[in-house]
Amino acid sequence: MKSVVLPAYNKNILRAILSLEIQEKELPKLRDDEVLIKTHAAPVNPSDVAFIQGGYNIVKQLPAVPGFEGSGVIVEAGQHAKDLIHKKVSAFVQTKHDGSWAEYFVARKKDLIILLDQMDMNQAACFTVNPFTAWALMEIALIRESKAIIQNAAGSQLAAFIRTMAKENDIEVINIVRKAETATLLKQQGVQHVLNQAEDTFEEQLTALSQQLLATTAFDAVGGELSGQMFNALADDSELVVYGGLSNKPAIGFGLKDLIFKNKIVSGFNLMDWKRELDTSEFEQVSNELQDKIISGVYTTEIQETVGLDQIVQGLKTYLGNMSGGKILIKP
Ligand SMILES: NC(=O)c1ccc[n+]([C@@H]2O[C@H](COP(=O)([O-])OP(=O)(O)OC[C@H]3O[C@@H](n4cnc5c(N)ncnc54)[C@H](OP(=O)(O)O)[C@@H]3O)[C@@H](O)[C@H]2O)c1
Repeated sequence: MKSVVLPAYNKNILRAILSLEIQEKELPKLRDDEVLIKTHAAPVNPSDVAFIQGGYNIVKQLPAVPGFEGSGVIVEAGQHAKDLIHKKVSAFVQTKHDGSWAEYFVARKKDLIILLDQMDMNQAACFTVNPFTAWALMEIALIRESKAIIQNAAGSQLAAFIRTMAKENDIEVINIVRKAETATLLKQQGVQHVLNQAEDTFEEQLTALSQQLLATTAFDAVGGELSGQMFNALADDSELVVYGGLSNKPAIGFGLKDLIFKNKIVSGFNLMDWKRELDTSEFEQVSNELQDKIISGVYTTEIQETVGLDQIVQGLKTYLGNMSGGKILIKP
């Protein structure tokens, strides 16, 4: 099978991208609880970018095939998964196995989502991570009964899911972006509260708006000093949930008085831990609800470009040059 192979981690993202090789590999052997998926498509996510730089939570023995999720059809299965052959699935691959940037990939039975018939396979490629993360984050805001939330990296696909979910629940969203063009794009889409973190008066604007709208939950995908700025801007009795580290910098600048006297907390969120807490039927219920909304077009992952395995370098460059423009899908 044709695969994208990472020979070595490289902190320099351009060098890491340029080092990727296209190789023919043997089809993998399956364990009893594993299936072989013929790949329809696999996205490029920020976690993949961090992985090839050697900066992600998951470190594999190299050379290895990147790609943590994808969609496709099950073509072969181990003894305990034979009933799944021919099923359309989305799958998550965070084991030590090769990933989804290949013609075929292996996933464990428990990391599969069997798709509803009408589910679009491109949307399915981006289904196992972002929609569930948005759902789980929104649950935190709902439990807190927040009237408003703050989110950064607001041009991301996950942030778009959160905006739609917030609208469904009558929650206002303060959206923070880092580029003027992303702010313009969001405003053109009718998004009301958009702040640019690069502006001199950003912190004052954020605090004023947050206090006015009574924001009591913030979702932080960036880290660095922006974490502290968001935390300090929140109204009393609030929570900053850190779920990403796009700046590669430690979260800093939390106001001591906010921590001690204003009943504010900082927490972390990881989808895999959230999933482990749910039983199968609860997860299926969320999955079906999300799939129904994707099928009806209420929730969508924007896809800016589709590339073949051979065009992986160009695809990654396009993505990194315009991350807010939508996902890049790799299609063998
Ligand atoms: N904890 C979890 O379980 C979990 C699960 C899923 C996703 N996540 C995280 O959620 C975040 C969004 O994922 P996604 O797939 O929705 O992303 P995406 O659609 O690929 O978009 C990435 C976004 O991040 C912005 N960005 C990149 N580097 C940034 C920086 N240093 N400072 C500020 N903004 C920056 C980009 O803006 P530009 O256009 O300006 O580059 C773009 O809007 C990521 O951090 C991801 O790791 C976490």
